[in-house]
Amino acid sequence: MAEKSRGFTSYIGAILAAAGGAVGLGNIWRFPYMLGQNGGGAFLLIYIFFVLFIGIPLMMTEFIIGRRGESNVIGSYRNLSKGNKGWITLGIFSIVCALMIYAFYSVVAGWTLNYLILACRNQLNGLSTEEVAQTFNTFTQGSFYPVLFQFLFIAITGGVVAMGVQKGIEKFSKILIPILFILLLLMCVRSLSLKGASEGLKFVFNPDFSKITGKSLLDALGQSFFSLSLGIGAMITYGSYIRKGDNLFKSSLWVAICDLGVAILASIVIFPAVFALGMNPADGPKLVYIVLPNVFNNMPMGNIFAIVFFILLNIATLTSTMSLLEILVSTAVEELHWKRGTASILASILVFGMGIFCTLSFGPLKDVTIGGKNIFDIFDLITASYLMPIGALLMTIFLGWFYPKTEVRAELSNDGKRKVRAFEIYHFILRYMAPIALIVILISGFFK
Ligand code: PHE
Repeated sequence: MAEKSRGFTSYIGAILAAAGGAVGLGNIWRFPYMLGQNGGGAFLLIYIFFVLFIGIPLMMTEFIIGRRGESNVIGSYRNLSKGNKGWITLGIFSIVCALMIYAFYSVVAGWTLNYLILACRNQLNGLSTEEVAQTFNTFTQGSFYPVLFQFLFIAITGGVVAMGVQKGIEKFSKILIPILFILLLLMCVRSLSLKGASEGLKFVFNPDFSKITGKSLLDALGQSFFSLSLGIGAMITYGSYIRKGDNLFKSSLWVAICDLGVAILASIVIFPAVFALGMNPADGPKLVYIVLPNVFNNMPMGNIFAIVFFILLNIATLTSTMSLLEILVSTAVEELHWKRGTASILASILVFGMGIFCTLSFGPLKDVTIGGKNIFDIFDLITASYLMPIGALLMTIFLGWFYPKTEVRAELSNDGKRKVRAFEIYHFILRYMAPIALIVILISGFFK
């Protein structure tokens, strides 16, 4: 029997909460457009390779740090390094990263909420292609409404997180994640039954390696980090809530399977529909908000499917923003001894304060750019392509080189109670493969 720990009450609850943190806009919004821009199937194969050989071991690494450290990101590093200042700083780095990700993530979260309401009020139905694009542009380039919806999403997330790890995060994830899968499967059936759907399937599953460049590799790695929520301590935080007797390897595997499954299913929903209706698969971030509403408009009962789609997108987004906020809240509660409610409110206000700049970077602040990128793009690029891999690299150095191997094995084997089969392989990846891959890709990214 698993012992009781400070967080999740069950194995399935832990997996669903972590899967909820992982499955998000990254899978349904970001993955398909990355796939679209990087030539489809070949990108998918490279992505799967990264998930298996770097993503899963790194998720185990974060779970180990969290569960062994029995604390928030900063506290876990402090406990495991016996107070080493350098490693505690890594914890602080994670917090800053989490803030930055939540700031730009909440912009798209706000769009998602707005689109659910538009779909429910049937306001996307019957619009021409230009009108759909115009709806998106007018909304995102404004200032009041995008900020309002961003605020609402942040407030809802804050409310759930304030309810606590068990009554908020675990309970909501256990209800919402199964619903998400059911809705996604429903959407797949609909999309596959469209005439001309096979083109889209070919695009997703036929690898064309001529489209793969150094940038595609960096994109695939960045996407795998982003999608699995790695490198910023989200999984350290959730890892600290996993019960002592649960199997960390299997938990990581399940979370990765759910995450990959949703990314592939979302692509199966999106691309057949895009091709069937002659849209451009490489349309980038707009794919979900401009291309899909057009697709819904052109299919029978499209408005119902639009509602279903935006419900599932909101669910995926909410479980992820919960995990982002929990990184901050757990730290404020344990390090600063704030009450959970106060911590949720203050952290949400901080995120909102930063997030507004990201939202306005599509409208009033659109001329504030660096190298042609607006504030939103800069936050996205810096975090997913650089800070997350750097954070992950430092984690592998911590657990692979600094923390005793015997202790790592003890945590994975639940202090000897469980047999760990491929420990040497895991430790080899942790010590050599993952850091080297991370360094190579980071360097190639910098010199691009
Ligand atoms: N993994 C989430 C997604 O795919 C994003 C995220 C990143 C959430 C980091 C938490 C931490 O949407």
